[in-house]
Amino acid sequence: MRRAVCPGSFDPVTNGHIDIITRAAQLYDEVVVAVVLNPNKTTLFTAAERVELIREATKALDNVSVDRFEGLTVDFCRRNHISAIIKGLRAVSDFDYEMQMAQMNYNQAGVETLFMTTNPLYAFLSSSLVKEFAKFGGDVSGLVPPGVLEKLTTRLNES
Ligand code: PNS
Repeated sequence: MRRAVCPGSFDPVTNGHIDIITRAAQLYDEVVVAVVLNPNKTTLFTAAERVELIREATKALDNVSVDRFEGLTVDFCRRNHISAIIKGLRAVSDFDYEMQMAQMNYNQAGVETLFMTTNPLYAFLSSSLVKEFAKFGGDVSGLVPPGVLEKLTTRLNES
């Protein structure tokens, strides 16, 4: 059984993430989307909300599951018998840090990282930009799954 993980903050999940998850699910028997809990980082959505939004957006993908973790991605991999991390690369600017992280993860646990080039349709897209534009009235409807759009609109109206 070949199992891979797509780790991230997913605050919130975007269509760029969904594109990578969908393509990863075509390459691996099982893909686990792992939401990282970073107590030092303020997020718009709780971990439970982020997990639920990803579950809803990936419900048509039978071999994709969603989980959350604290600590190192490689420890999550060890616990779940996962041998590969899949990351989307949007631009060259992503590469330096991602390569360093990939090498560290291999050094520490022998876990491989596979980089997938982002669909050019979403090359500019990030969760931070989605939140920023949505907050100030931008139209992000084509950039996030419908469930995320709904929850984003509600959450931003609350604050
Ligand atoms: O969506 P993000 O915030 O860019 O995701 C970054 C993430 C979660 C993939 C990365 O920060 C990570 O792997 N964090 C877990 C902690 C960890 O393993 N750190 C060491 C990396 S060498």
